[in-house]
Amino acid sequence: MKPPVHIAVTGAAGQITYALLFRIAAGDLLGADQPVVLRLLEVPAAMGGLDGVVMELHDCAFPLLHGIVTTDDPQIAFAGAHYAFLVGATPRGPGMERKDLLQVNADIFAVQGKALNAVADRAVKILVVGNPANTNALITLRNAPDLNPQNISAMTRLDHNRAVGMLARRCGAPVAAVQRVSIWGNHSTTQYPDLNHALVDGVPALEQVDETWYREQFIGEVQKRGATVIAARGKSSAASAANAALGHMRTWIFGTPAGDWTSMSVLSDGSYGIAPGLIYSFPVTVSNGRYAIVQNLSIDDFSRRLMRDSEDELKSEREAVAGLL
Ligand code: NAD
Ligand code: LMR
Repeated sequence: MKPPVHIAVTGAAGQITYALLFRIAAGDLLGADQPVVLRLLEVPAAMGGLDGVVMELHDCAFPLLHGIVTTDDPQIAFAGAHYAFLVGATPRGPGMERKDLLQVNADIFAVQGKALNAVADRAVKILVVGNPANTNALITLRNAPDLNPQNISAMTRLDHNRAVGMLARRCGAPVAAVQRVSIWGNHSTTQYPDLNHALVDGVPALEQVDETWYREQFIGEVQKRGATVIAARGKSSAASAANAALGHMRTWIFGTPAGDWTSMSVLSDGSYGIAPGLIYSFPVTVSNGRYAIVQNLSIDDFSRRLMRDSEDELKSEREAVAGLL
């Protein structure tokens, strides 16, 4: 048996983690031969609810689950962690934008960035899910100066999956036939879901759908899907968010398939003229646990304008939390 891998999950009594923890413990993240220890962080008021989640985890008798640590202290939760899912944060309700959460949630990521910096495994991979995810990841990164910035990312995989699903349904094709969808920018309504390079069954997607649908329907539906789910459910997405978090981390560990890429929000290095230092969603390939931003994609004026709008929003979010950076 391999030694267990330590996986920290914050917001462990919340709705996303309720859909995430059981899949990690079942082996869906690291495979059927890799034991795990779950290191679960919650706020003191939620520790009672977390006890119930732990009882249910025990009651599944997962062979791979070699231990569970519960705590309200980030220094304990992140001690020696190899992977960290930063989910714990307030979600938005109907009528709110994700950036309305910035002042509510920002401090969480300053505290947790410092704790990760102090006690996590030096190669820890950190995925920020709590909204507004991109700027929260930036706060985490800036408060963890001893960790490799390559190892901190925010989640736009849910947007990527939404775009893949919508395109597949439009074309009447299986999801597996869709490749090279890109999400650029912020996990917000300014994000740009780009089909210019996408393929369906190896054929350019934009030869298979009409431009009006792409520009006037598809882009807006992906951008607003989170709010549409909230309006329908009364609560924000949970199972699809957990699935995307698992997929993001799996791809980061095991790589992208040949000929395809995924979307991850990562530290901009200036690629495509996006300001260095922002956490911006790019199309990326991954191999050997390292991502690389896909280079040399052609960008038309329409795309450039949308990419800039999202960049501008991220700059203004960064200004709003300057005191924590
Ligand atoms: P939830 O309210 O059900 O759960 C959040 C949990 O986090 C709560 O149990 C709360 O006690 C806990 N928490 C709060 N502060 C904490 C802290 N400092 N340390 C540890 N735990 C803390 O919310 P949810 O629906 O699970 O959503 C969680 C976050 O994920 C929200 O910000 C939501 O907007 C975001 N989200 C992001 C995406 C994405 O695609 N990036 C998708 C869905 C949801
Ligand atoms: C989502 O995209 O579903 C999440 O970010 C939740 C939200 O507030 O939209």
